[in-house]
Amino acid sequence: MTDLTNSPKLDSFWMPFTANRQFKSAPRMLATAEGMYYTDVDGNSVLDGTAGLWCVNAGHGRKQIASAVEKQLSTMDFAPTFQMGHNIAFDFATRLGEIAPRGDGKILDRVFFTGSGSESVDTALKIAIAYQRAIGQGTRTRVIGRERGYHGVGFGGISVGGLVNNRRVFPLLPGADHLRHTHDLEKNAFSKGQPEHGAELADDLERMVALHGAETIAAVIVEPLAGSTGVLVPPKGYLERLAAIAKKHGILLIFDEVITGFGRLGSPFASDYFGVTPDLITTAKGLTNGAIPMGAVFASRHIYDGLMHGPEGAIELFHGYTYSGHPAACAAGIATLDIYAEEGLLTRAAELADDWQEAIHSLKSAKNVIDIRTLGLVAGIELSSRDGAVGARAYDVFTDCFRKGLLIRVTGDVIALSPPLIVSKEEIGKIVSILGDAINRAS
Ligand SMILES: Cc1ncc(COP(=O)(O)O)c(C=O)c1O
Repeated sequence: MTDLTNSPKLDSFWMPFTANRQFKSAPRMLATAEGMYYTDVDGNSVLDGTAGLWCVNAGHGRKQIASAVEKQLSTMDFAPTFQMGHNIAFDFATRLGEIAPRGDGKILDRVFFTGSGSESVDTALKIAIAYQRAIGQGTRTRVIGRERGYHGVGFGGISVGGLVNNRRVFPLLPGADHLRHTHDLEKNAFSKGQPEHGAELADDLERMVALHGAETIAAVIVEPLAGSTGVLVPPKGYLERLAAIAKKHGILLIFDEVITGFGRLGSPFASDYFGVTPDLITTAKGLTNGAIPMGAVFASRHIYDGLMHGPEGAIELFHGYTYSGHPAACAAGIATLDIYAEEGLLTRAAELADDWQEAIHSLKSAKNVIDIRTLGLVAGIELSSRDGAVGARAYDVFTDCFRKGLLIRVTGDVIALSPPLIVSKEEIGKIVSILGDAINRAS
């Protein structure tokens, strides 16, 4: 038994989105990862019910990715992409372009590389504003998000995000505003798949237009399925309606697919799944199977072309990161795409979705469960909150599951599940069994 409780070894790492003092007094330490399992520092197996942090879609320890990265690092470790190029970045962008969503006259095969989901979001917002200006719509600088949205932690992302704890301490982008969220427990609890009620909430974008003027709004950004904020599945017809209103008013539609991109719902992108094509898509996580940090913004050709103006020697977009198109990340990404293609992982969630849905909904009778939401290989299980202690009950379930060998994720009192797309039916059964027992044990 490795007892690291309050060990000085834990002092220096200031952990993100973590209760540092609580964690350091009762640490949970992972050591290795293979397939569907982590192993902790004491050698216990932990079934990964969350694909790490929604990112390890092809499962852990993929040798193909490791050797591609190793080969790239020993061939060329780093090269700039500012006024310079290297093959692997162009190759990876081309490969991504081949699977990029297309529809409604748009093809989203122009790819801007970033280092993370947060960077992808800020990049997409900036591209949207720059594009509007480039086409003579320079008054469109306002960006619209949605309550309960999560778009990472950059200043742009928290401004359009809708989680109060991420926002209250920090100054925000002027002019950012929010649609109402789509969560309606009263009408939609225990919906299987997309809930029936709430398409009309998309009309909030009309309210924004009426309030601010369409000529001030550059873009609206939503997660097609909101993950980090508690798994909120879009009501039937909602995304279609939102896209139509955005189009009518010349507002760009951005789908934040940092979680839904790369097969989570059973199609390569949520955009494909819902049959709604936005103008920009933000991605990260499953882009490299989580192996190397990287993000990518997919832009429709008309956005890219709209910005390719002015003297040929002029930089069209004053934006980019040292690590945009990092060779090792591109190598990891290409190997990841190969695995997705060879193993059919971008559509595997569609094959498992019915079994997944039935298995997860069997938890309906567990103690304090007030809602269950499922789509593709995602689930949200909402527990009633203890009086004056939102999140405490789900946190107890989280620590209990970990002790019993299952990794889940909790936000408030919602338990979120998103296993690697290689999960077997037996492993789904195991997730449900360990989780059900833990929920029933929680007071
Ligand atoms: C929808 C969405 N957007 C953006 C992000 C931010 O990504 P990152 O943590 O890589 O910055 C996340 C992370 O969970 C996300 O779920």
